[in-house]
Amino acid sequence: MEINDSSILRFDNLLSTNSYLKEHIGEFLPYTTIWSDGQEKGRGRYNREWISYKGKDLTFSILIPLKDLKIEYWKNLTQISSLSIAEELEKLDFKVSIKWPNDILINDKKVCGLLCEVSQRGDEKFAVLGIGLNVNSTLEDLSNINQPATSLFIEKGTVIDREELLQNIVSSNISKFNDFTKNGFQIYKKEVLRRLAWLNEIKIIEDNDRSFDGRIIDLNDDGTLKFLKSDGEIINLISGEIRFKKGH
Ligand code: BTN
Repeated sequence: MEINDSSILRFDNLLSTNSYLKEHIGEFLPYTTIWSDGQEKGRGRYNREWISYKGKDLTFSILIPLKDLKIEYWKNLTQISSLSIAEELEKLDFKVSIKWPNDILINDKKVCGLLCEVSQRGDEKFAVLGIGLNVNSTLEDLSNINQPATSLFIEKGTVIDREELLQNIVSSNISKFNDFTKNGFQIYKKEVLRRLAWLNEIKIIEDNDRSFDGRIIDLNDDGTLKFLKSDGEIINLISGEIRFKKGH
């Protein structure tokens, strides 16, 4: 382990930065980031595997204290994080969109995923916010992934400095999170909506064992998704409950 910054701890290889941070939660100060060059058992949402390439991509987790964040806003944490990552990528001239609730896409292909897990230390609750960003992986590397995926390198054709990008993403996440704790989600809704993927496009959504045809028509003030079903009914979808069908 090497300390390269007051709060970013770099590891060569871990099973999963989220699992490591959860297991060692008592050892780290709030806002510590665990960064691992390689992950042997990276985890995604819905128990999926997260594949990344050692020395090429970014896999890290940030320890976020939840004590000052109203419980109604917990579900928005990953949306705030994906907004701040989107803004950092835009500074590098990438045109990104946010696939609700929190995947980041470039040209409709996934470049970044977030896995947020709530963990407890004593009677204090923390979010372990895990971020996987495909930075320098190649087309060949990503050919094993069974959904449309891309990397910053594939999109731009040049190698990106991972360490600098990581530092920028971590600091913008922490500062946005602090503002969000004070202000709530509503003021960010417009910024998320502006980047929302597939607004008004016909899509299929899977929610547990149900699936709906229809289109996203808006984002509600609380970050839930307003979806107009093809039978005319409007439903509000809550973060974490839905999945877009593969390939959509
Ligand atoms: C998803 O899109 O399903 C979420 C992917 C989250 C991957 C990151 S990589 C760092 C952290 N450690 C993990 O095991 N998962 C998250």
